[in-house]
Amino acid sequence: MVLGNLVKLRAMEPSDAEALWRWNHDPEVMRWMSDGYAQSQARVRKSMEERPRNAYGDVLYGVETLDGATLVGLVRLRDTEPETGCAELDIYLGEKEYWGRGYATDAMRTICRYGFEKMRLHKITLTVVTENHAAHHVYRKVGFVEEGRLRQVFRRDGRWYDMFTMGLLEGELRD
Ligand SMILES: CC(C)(COP(=O)(O)OP(=O)(O)OC[C@H]1O[C@@H](n2cnc3c(N)ncnc32)[C@H](O)[C@@H]1OP(=O)(O)O)[C@@H](O)C(=O)NCCC(=O)NCCS
Repeated sequence: MVLGNLVKLRAMEPSDAEALWRWNHDPEVMRWMSDGYAQSQARVRKSMEERPRNAYGDVLYGVETLDGATLVGLVRLRDTEPETGCAELDIYLGEKEYWGRGYATDAMRTICRYGFEKMRLHKITLTVVTENHAAHHVYRKVGFVEEGRLRQVFRRDGRWYDMFTMGLLEGELRD
């Protein structure tokens, strides 16, 4: 369990499958994320049950509000390389009524602090669709900077969109 100011990060449980399945079927939540093929709730639960334990190379945590203990989203540090200390970060908040209350900002700071201090990472990277202004704003606010622009790599409703690659080095996290 990892404590932030507004959120707690904790391991995911098979009983979280219903929430995860609901978020993955919400077009507004998935607007700027790759959604792949639809999976049944039973399949989502099975993959949660069979997921390897959290370890250096892949850490998945649920984001829970500190007041109320509601699961509102998830964060993940994956593809971590011991040689470079570099990990890729994913975040999303599936409970839309909790958007705009600072939870993603706090979850980002908490997982990045955890990555740098506990896992001794050197760098955290992520990608974001250039039109995803809320996410891009949050990433910049906590210290991520654009390092490149991938042209036409995300497709939605018959249109191509670019993505930014962004990075945060140890020592650059902003409070
Ligand atoms: C993007 C997301 C993570 C933001 O979560 P959140 O909890 O609402 O974020 P916060 O409340 O911490 O901060 C939101 C910030 O974005 C700003 N914002 C909101 N909409 C915006 C917009 N259209 N343009 C620019 N900034 C915007 C808010 O003003 C706020 O900034 P401030 O604190 O400086 O005022 C969340 O909406 C989400 O998970 N969306 C769906 C999945 C997704 O897109 N994930 C990211 C994939 S890369």
